[in-house]
This record gives sequence, structure tokens and C-alpha cells, in this order.
Amino acid sequence: MPTINVTTRDGHAKSFEGTNGQSLMENLRSHGVDEVLALCGGCLSCATCHVYVDEDWLSALPPMSEDEDDLLDSSGAREANSRLSCQIPVSDALDGLSVTVAPED
Ligand code: FES
Repeated sequence: MPTINVTTRDGHAKSFEGTNGQSLMENLRSHGVDEVLALCGGCLSCATCHVYVDEDWLSALPPMSEDEDDLLDSSGAREANSRLSCQIPVSDALDGLSVTVAPED
């Protein structure tokens, strides 16, 4: 079980044991990070699951699809380390992953 570290918008840090096979978005939601709204349920159409990934972890993630890239472009809060958490499958390879919830658009 990978340990996932998340910092919420108010700067509160928490860690939890992630569930492999679920997306990072689903993991965040099921561990009480309700500010990740995930309005589209992971269908890649809302961008309300936007997170900033710790720079050290960017290369460990699956490459960004064109659709994810386009949707992130619609966010005014996009940064170089932006990803949509519904597009990140959790696995043991991500043990220690650190992300911060992006500001609300
Ligand atoms: S949950 Fe809607 S784009 Fe990720």
C-alpha cells in the first residue's frame, strides 16, 4: 500500500495509505479530501480534481494525454507541475507521492 501525502488548500498536510488500482482522485475523495470536487467523476471533463505534483514525482507519473493537457489549459491556476488526479492510477510505484490541491478556479 503506497503512502500518499497531500496538502490541502489551507496548508493542512495529511498522509494516508492509498488503494492500488484506484485513481489518485478516488483516493483523495475516499480519504476526506472533499475539496477535490471531481464533478465529472473522472471522465476528464471538469478539471475540479486539479493537483500540483511535487517536482520529484513528476517523472514517475504516466505521461499526460492530449485531452488532459487541453483541459488543464482551461484552468487559470495551471502550473508546470499541474496534473488531473483522476488521470493518475495509484500503485506501489507511487509510494511517497506528494501533491497539493490546486486553488479553485
Ligand atoms: S474528475 Fe473531472 S477531470 Fe478529473
